[in-house]
Order: sequence, then C-alpha cells, then structure tokens
Amino acid sequence: MEDSSGVLPGITASAFTSALSQAANGVSVVTTKHGNREAGLTVSSMCSVCADPALLLVCVNLDNEFCDIADKSGVFAVNILPTDCIDLATVFAGLGDHPEQSRFDIGEWSTLSTGAPILSNALVALDCEIDSSLAKGSHRVFFGKVVDVRTTSGEPLLYTDRRFAIVHPVPL
Ligand SMILES: Cc1cc2nc3c(=O)[nH]c(=O)nc-3n(C[C@H](O)[C@H](O)[C@H](O)COP(=O)(O)O)c2cc1C
Repeated sequence: MEDSSGVLPGITASAFTSALSQAANGVSVVTTKHGNREAGLTVSSMCSVCADPALLLVCVNLDNEFCDIADKSGVFAVNILPTDCIDLATVFAGLGDHPEQSRFDIGEWSTLSTGAPILSNALVALDCEIDSSLAKGSHRVFFGKVVDVRTTSGEPLLYTDRRFAIVHPVPL
C-alpha cells in the first residue's frame, strides 16, 4: 500500500531473494589481478548488456576485495563454468573450509589480453576492460567491455532453487 506521499514501500529483502531463487542462472567465476593481488568470486549476476559495443555486467558485493583490486587494475575476466566445476564454484563462493588466499590453487589458470586470471577449462572466458561501475545498495555493478574471448564446447553449470543444476534439454 502507498504511504502518505504516494510511494510504494517495496518488498523485503527476504521476499526478493526468495522470489529470485526460482530463476535459473548460469554460474561464472569473475576474477581480477593487480600486481601480485588477485581476487575471484562465484557469481550468477553476469549478463550481457549489448553486443555493439560488446558489453557485459557483473554485480559484486561491496565488501568483496574484488572491488578494490578491480578499481586498481581496471580489468576483470568472466569465466563461465561447465558442469564439472561445482567444486571450483563452491571454493570461489567462500563455502567449505578452503582458505581464501589459496582459491586459485584449484584449477589451472592462464591469461588472455588483460592479465586477469582465465580458467583453462572455462566453457567461455570473456576478458574485459572496465567500462564503468555503479554502486547500488550493497553491490557494485561493473560494466565490462569485452576485449578478448575464448570458447570451448560443453554444457553450462546452472544455479536454481539455491542449488547447482545441469541443463536437461527438452526433446523436440
Ligand atoms: C551460485 C552463486 C552465485 C553467486 N552470485 C554472486 C553475485 O552475483 N555477486 C556477489 O557479490 N556474490 C555472489 N555470490 C556469493 C559470492 O560468491 C561469495 O559471497 C564470495 O565468494 C565470498 O567472497 P569472500 O569470501 O572473498 O568475501 C554467489 C554465490 C553462489 C554460490
């Protein structure tokens, strides 16, 4: 119901996250590196913005050190995960007892053009220069201009109903 100024109050955070948990999203690990500092986290917020110019976005919690390192490096990479990367997705989500400093010990990492860490078996790796960013509530939205891409074949890892899932193609 509207308040006296005619503004609708909005829904609670828990109603919002509960509703959006029903959506199905791809899972990526977004990474950045500046000098010898690197950061990476599992995200489901990556999506395309436009194709010309090639722009994507990711939303990252302000508390994550990714924000500080990305501000300094001006670059990040999106590594879209295949189905056999659930363990890696779990580690980069900070779940389990893997120490934060050694997240990059899991998986094989290289670089493309920007120097941001690229996962060797990523389904797709998108190497980005930061175009701009916008703070909204608890998160920063990073817009990345894609300057390099590497694709392989396989099936994407999904996340829905608060668990990992795999694509189940519908027979035609
Ligand atoms: C499937 C999945 C999707 C996630 N998506 C995001 C996201 O889009 N943005 C974000 O900031 N955190 C997201 N998280 C949470 C971060 O991965 C997690 O908070 C982060 O890795 C913790 O990092 P820290 O230990 O360095 O603080 C997601 C977690 C999971 C399991």
